[in-house]
Parts: sequence; structure tokens; C-alpha cells
Amino acid sequence: MQKAIYPGSFDPLHNGHLDVIGRAARLCDSVVVAIAANASKNALLSTAERIDIIKNATAHLPEVSVTEFEGLLVDFVIEQKADCIIRGLRAISDFEYEFQMALMNRQLRSTVETIFLMPSQEYIYLSSRIIKEIAATGNDVRDFISEKAAVAVEKKLALKKI
Ligand code: PNS
Repeated sequence: MQKAIYPGSFDPLHNGHLDVIGRAARLCDSVVVAIAANASKNALLSTAERIDIIKNATAHLPEVSVTEFEGLLVDFVIEQKADCIIRGLRAISDFEYEFQMALMNRQLRSTVETIFLMPSQEYIYLSSRIIKEIAATGNDVRDFISEKAAVAVEKKLALKKI
């Protein structure tokens, strides 16, 4: 496989995402982590903050680059001349949503394939939403996200309380 797009909201990037990025980087010549700008209206972190966090966390992986995209994912995949979309699959509960997206993307652009990677089992319970909930109660989330991400999340949550 040559070039893969790993899309998502990444609000914030967590260790499960990083695990999937590492697996994709071993399989592919290049992996573009792509933040969906238009799926992020209610995001806690700005796109620039999320890009910064992901770049910092993947600095040791030369195959990985980070960017944002607007509009349809399949159009971005074609524009990038990428070979596939990578998505992480944690549990059966993810399956319905992922199945729907993969088939809709295939319906929209028949050449775009989606490849699912399973993160290590120690991360399958992680989600950005739950991590933000835990952080919002004042609890430390550094077991689940990077120091840089934790600082950014805590700062944004503190600002929201003012
Ligand atoms: O991490 P998420 O929030 O589950 O990622 C969802 C994402 C960003 C991959 C999805 O919402 C997406 O692809 N958005 C871009 C717009 C698009 O192409 N929508 C149709 C998808 S079938």
C-alpha cells in the first residue's frame, strides 16, 4: 500500500488513535492524518491545536503528515491521490457507523476503499468524548492522551467555565 488517509475529528487525539497511526505507518509508505474541519463545529479544540498535538505525537514517524480537509472525505482522498482510507475499529458498537460510512463512501466514489485496523486491546475502551468528560470533572487524563493534548484540553475546559 502506498498512501493512506486516516480521517477523524481527533478532539483530542488519544492513545488508541496513535496506536492505529503506528500500525498504518508500518503498512503504508505515507499516512495523512486528516482532520475533518466541517465535522468539528462543536469541537473543544481548534483545528490548529489538534494539528499541533498530532504533529507532536507523531514526530517520530516520518511516514506521517497531518492536515485538515473540508467537504467530502472521498473527494479529499482522490485529490490526494491516496490509495485508501484507514479507520480504527474498536468494538462491535463501532461497526454499524463504520459500515455505513465505508459503504456510503464507496457509493460516492467506487474506487475509494476503506481498511479497518484494530487498535491494541488496551485502548479499545478509549474515546475522545469520554476523555473530555473525565477531564471536565477535573480528573487527570494523561493515561489516555499526550501531555500536550492534556494541557490543551484542560486550558480549553477552564476557559469554558469562566
Ligand atoms: O472521528 P470521527 O468523528 O468518527 O470521524 C468522522 C469523519 C470525520 C471521518 C466523517 O465525519 C467524515 O468523513 N466527514 C467528512 C464529510 C464526509 O465525507 N461525510 C460523509 C461520510 S460517509
